[in-house]
Amino acid sequence: MSSGDKDLKPGTKVAHAGRRKEWTGPVVNPPVWRASTHLYETEADRKAAGKSNADGGFFYGRRGAPTQWALADALTAIEPGAFGTVLYPSGVAAIAGALLAVLKPGDRLLMTDNAYDPSRSMATGLLTRMGIEGTFFDPLDLDAYRGLFDQPVRAVWLESPGSLTMEVCDVPALSAIAREHGAISLIDNTWASPLGFAALEHGCDIVMMSLSKHVGGHSDLMMGSASAGERWYRALRRTSQELGQVVSPDDAALASRGLRTMAVRLERGTESAIRIATWLKEQPQIAEVMCPMLPGDPSHELWQRDFTGGCGLFSLALDTNDTGACGRVVDALDLFGIGYSWGGFESLALPIFPQQHRSVMSAPNVGEAGAHAAIRLSIGLEDPDDLIADLAQALAKMDD
Ligand SMILES: Cc1ncc(COP(=O)(O)O)c(C=O)c1O
Repeated sequence: MSSGDKDLKPGTKVAHAGRRKEWTGPVVNPPVWRASTHLYETEADRKAAGKSNADGGFFYGRRGAPTQWALADALTAIEPGAFGTVLYPSGVAAIAGALLAVLKPGDRLLMTDNAYDPSRSMATGLLTRMGIEGTFFDPLDLDAYRGLFDQPVRAVWLESPGSLTMEVCDVPALSAIAREHGAISLIDNTWASPLGFAALEHGCDIVMMSLSKHVGGHSDLMMGSASAGERWYRALRRTSQELGQVVSPDDAALASRGLRTMAVRLERGTESAIRIATWLKEQPQIAEVMCPMLPGDPSHELWQRDFTGGCGLFSLALDTNDTGACGRVVDALDLFGIGYSWGGFESLALPIFPQQHRSVMSAPNVGEAGAHAAIRLSIGLEDPDDLIADLAQALAKMDD
C-alpha cells in the first residue's frame, strides 16, 4: 500500500498494508526473518548502514528486519495521521516507552484517573522515582482538568473508554486544552484501535496500543505499539533504540496475520457485545451495564460523535455487593474463560474492582465503596445466542 491509498476503507487497508514487494518477494506474507547478525558485502557498506539508521535498513537484529518492518508499516498505514510506528515487546512496554520518550526529570504528567492500572502505577512508581510528578484527573470534569494547568504540564495521558468502567471522554477537548498550554497528549487506544477511533486526528500526538488484544486477536502473543506524526515518531524511535527494545520476528508475523482479520473480528465483537449488553440490561440481577456502544449509556453520545467502531469489551455491575456472588456467577460460566487480557477470539469474564484503582474519580456505576460487584466481559467470536444462554444460567446461580 502507498500513501496514495489512504482513502481506502479499513477492511481493505488491513488486508493490504505492510505487504511491500521488497519484503514479501513472490509470496503473500512477509516471511519470518530470524536474525541477530546482518551481513555486509564490504566494510564501506557496514559504515554506511551504521550512519544512516534509516527505517527499513538492514543493520543489526535489534533494529528489526522485514518481518518487523512490515508490521510497523502496516500499523502506520491504518493509523490516520501517523508518520511511523515503533513496536514494543508488550503493551506495558509501549506505555513506558512512549512516556519515557516525552518526559524528563522535573516534568509534570497528568493522567486520566480511569487509566489501565499499570499505566497508573507508572505514574506513581517508575516516573516518580525519576523525579517526574504524576497527577490524576477526572476526564469527565473539564473545568477541574483545566485548573491543573495552573502549573506547567509536559504531557497528558488519556485512555478512552477508560479501563473497567468504560467512560468515553472528550478527547478533542482534553487534547486541545493540553495543546493550548504547550503539553503533549498521549492516548492508550487499545479498546477502539485506529479502526474505531482515529486518535491522532482527534488531537493526540502519540497513540499507543496493546497489540496483545485486537491485533494479535488469538490470545497467543504479547506486543505493543506507539505511532505518531514525524516529530514524536523520531523521539519514540530514539528512546526505543536507547532502551534496546525489539520484538521477535515470529511474534511480528503472528501479529501481521492477526491484523488481516481485525476489521471483521471487531465488527463481529461489536455486534455481539451490543446484543448481549442489551439483553443483560433487562436482567433482574444486573444493576448497570457499562457499554458506550449501547444507546442510553452516558458515554453513547460521545462514542457516536468521535468513534467509527467498537469492540467486544464492556462491563456490568451486579445487583449485589457480594463479591462471593460475583465469583459464583463467573465460576458458573461455561463458555467464558476467567483470565486477564481481552480482544481474543474466545470470550472472557473477569471480576473487577475499579474503586480500588481511582484517586479523584468515583466509579459511579459500581458504587463508591463497591456497592455493586462488577464483571468485565470480553465477547469473542462465539455465537451470541450461546453466550446469552451461558450468561442466563450463570446469573441464575448468583443468589445460590
Ligand atoms: C487498556 C490496556 N492497555 C494496555 C494493556 C497492556 O498490554 P499488554 O498486556 O500487552 O502489556 C492492557 C492489558 O490488559 C490494557 O487493557
